[in-house]
Amino acid sequence: MMNCFHLLVLFLLSLNMKVISESFPGERAALFLLRDSLTSLNDLHGNWTGPPCIDNLSRWKGITCFNWHVVQIVLEGFELLGYLPPAFPQNITFLTQLNLRNNSISGTLPNLSNLVFLEHALLSYNRFYGSIPLEYVGLSGLAELELQMNYLDGQIPAFDQASLDSFNVSYNHLVGPIPQTSVLQKFPKSSFDNNSDLCGKPLDVLCPPPSPAPAPSPEAAPSPEAPTKNKRLAVWIIALLIAAPSMVFLLFTIVFLFYNKKVQAKEKAKNEYSAGYGFGAWAKNMMSYSFTNEDSGRSGTLEIYNKEYPIFDLDDLLRAAAEMLGKGSLGTTYKATLETGAVVAVKRFDQMIGFVKKEFFFQHMHLLASSKHENLVEIISFYYSEEQKLVVYEFIPSYSLFELLHDSRVRGTPLNWSTRLAIIKDIARGLAFLHHSLPSHKVPHANLGTSNVLIHQDSQGYHSKLTDFGFLHLISNKKSAEKLTISKSPEFVQGKKLTHKADVYCFGIIILEVITGKVPGESLGEIEETTSDISEWVRTVVNNDWSTDILDAEMLATREGHGAMFELTEIALQCTDMMPERRPRMDEVFARIEEIEQMKSENE
Ligand SMILES: *[C@@H]1O[C@H](CO)[C@@H](O)[C@H](O)[C@H]1NC(C)=O
Ligand SMILES: *[C@@H]1O[C@H](CO)[C@@H](O)[C@H](O)[C@H]1NC(C)=O
Ligand SMILES: *[C@@H]1O[C@H](CO)[C@@H](O)[C@H](O)[C@H]1NC(C)=O
Ligand SMILES: *[C@@H]1O[C@H](CO)[C@@H](O)[C@H](O)[C@H]1NC(C)=O
Ligand SMILES: *[C@@H]1O[C@H](CO)[C@@H](O)[C@H](O)[C@H]1NC(C)=O
Ligand SMILES: *[C@@H]1O[C@H](CO)[C@@H](O)[C@H](O)[C@H]1NC(C)=O
Ligand SMILES: *[C@@H]1O[C@H](CO)[C@@H](O)[C@H](O)[C@H]1NC(C)=O
Repeated sequence: MMNCFHLLVLFLLSLNMKVISESFPGERAALFLLRDSLTSLNDLHGNWTGPPCIDNLSRWKGITCFNWHVVQIVLEGFELLGYLPPAFPQNITFLTQLNLRNNSISGTLPNLSNLVFLEHALLSYNRFYGSIPLEYVGLSGLAELELQMNYLDGQIPAFDQASLDSFNVSYNHLVGPIPQTSVLQKFPKSSFDNNSDLCGKPLDVLCPPPSPAPAPSPEAAPSPEAPTKNKRLAVWIIALLIAAPSMVFLLFTIVFLFYNKKVQAKEKAKNEYSAGYGFGAWAKNMMSYSFTNEDSGRSGTLEIYNKEYPIFDLDDLLRAAAEMLGKGSLGTTYKATLETGAVVAVKRFDQMIGFVKKEFFFQHMHLLASSKHENLVEIISFYYSEEQKLVVYEFIPSYSLFELLHDSRVRGTPLNWSTRLAIIKDIARGLAFLHHSLPSHKVPHANLGTSNVLIHQDSQGYHSKLTDFGFLHLISNKKSAEKLTISKSPEFVQGKKLTHKADVYCFGIIILEVITGKVPGESLGEIEETTSDISEWVRTVVNNDWSTDILDAEMLATREGHGAMFELTEIALQCTDMMPERRPRMDEVFARIEEIEQMKSENE
């Protein structure tokens, strides 16, 4: 806690100030900026109002005050998502503790240079990337520095402040020698474990003798202005590092796979397309795998991410009754009813991500699972063994948007314009969130199509949730990537760089599909079979029928909202522009759709 010196300084300071009627505006402004930069399920917006400090007291969640100054910020496990505002928490001069543990904060680590009273910097279990700022070495009162479980890279600076008595940088991507300062040598191995390539004591890894080529230096720290670029670079390097060893494995396996492919294909067809094929069968496979695994000492691991769900373990999952829900481009999805009565959806991946390393798979799945949003299907847990990779999702009684639009068995009443707009808005919201929450991903969703939008209906109307998102990172070869909907984007076809804008393209196609009621190409549901050029379809739909003709006949019957519908078409056209850089960002798209909705309700 605060030591005597700090108390004394604060006390002297308070004498100077005499009676102050309000908190320090700079501190409050900085906290407001923090509040508005991050999203949280914990409703900071409703709570952080008025002054943060009233003498020694605070009415703000997570804030501790002393003499009108904010001295502690403790927002552990608040499910904060986003980036810290620039220069945070520089203006909170008397901060002694900054605890942001266990959130989903991205970006580079905060600049703590001016905070001479800072004793506890607890930033573990987040998504910070970039290197550890050299300035942290200058924090002379720092007692506790927790940075574990992030995506930090670069080298460890030579911490040597005597005050430091707790330190943890494990589970990052740090490299190079651990500085042999007396302070750093106080800490155990577990403070440094599970990094990319650290060496030197206390780890058991010897450093190679210094060579003329210097290791990457911490100067490579991304500047706050350009975090995404650098982050992308870092992610690429990590991906390459991870991919390198698996390449060797790949070579060996390819030979084996070629040998087995025919037999497998036959069996697969027999198994998966037969109506009665369900959980039992694949569960049996899994059982036999785990038996063989036991013999060789490697066993699969089920990781429960969302602990709010009824607890189940691998055995429960294996015993579950299952029915096949559908076969998508990446694998097969089952509905599994556990013995407790709980129901979950289980996705079993095809071979395509067979070569992903376990550590990478888990790290990636953690990242996806932490992206919680009402318009995204929630990930409950995931399973990894060398032979099987599963993702367990919440089960939603639903049908896909594809079925809703094109399958007469699902269609009840005609879909009116408001319903269609509401569905599109939900999709835009979910996708905008995903783009915001996974900024470092090349294409955060990568498989957006009407088959991967689940529609759930209740008394309030239709609700949409996106599923099957975030797997491009787990796929290393182009052949498999061709199964994803982004393969229909012009940049993929032309072999150009993929960005978030590939998702925007797919979103544009969804809009067109929803307002025209036409199936892009031939059938977006069976992507493998659709080789026709979707962008051509888009142009044809728009150029030839630029009139009410393009609208679904069902909507034409009613005369509502045609003007707004053309505005939506306009958005769809921009989203499907051949040039990715001319397409709008998803947050802009969402804002415009909201405007359309508002206009519509004003006209009613
Ligand atoms: C810090 O406070 C000063 C004085 O109130 C203000 O001018 C400045 O903009 C603030 N900076 C940040 C990053 O909040
Ligand atoms: C904020 O939340 C805390 C704890 O839940 C409560 O005691 C406090 O009154 C709230 N403050 C405001 C301004 O609503
Ligand atoms: C705030 O705390 C300090 C130190 O404990 C104390 O001297 C001061 O009187 C407190 N102020 C109020 C209004 O309680
Ligand atoms: C992180 O926070 C969540 C809730 O926000 C909690 O359920 C979980 O146990 C926490 N994890 C750790 C490692 O503290
Ligand atoms: C951190 O903040 C200090 C003081 O505002 C500034 O001098 C320094 O350049 C900043 N460091 C970085 C890396 O931005
Ligand atoms: C460092 O953090 C990791 C992950 O949370 C934990 O397993 C390890 O015990 C910690 N080590 C120390 C010394 O705190
Ligand atoms: C972390 O490192 C320790 C020791 O090097 C190792 O036993 C453990 O399996 C690693 N954990 C993960 C999740 O990789």
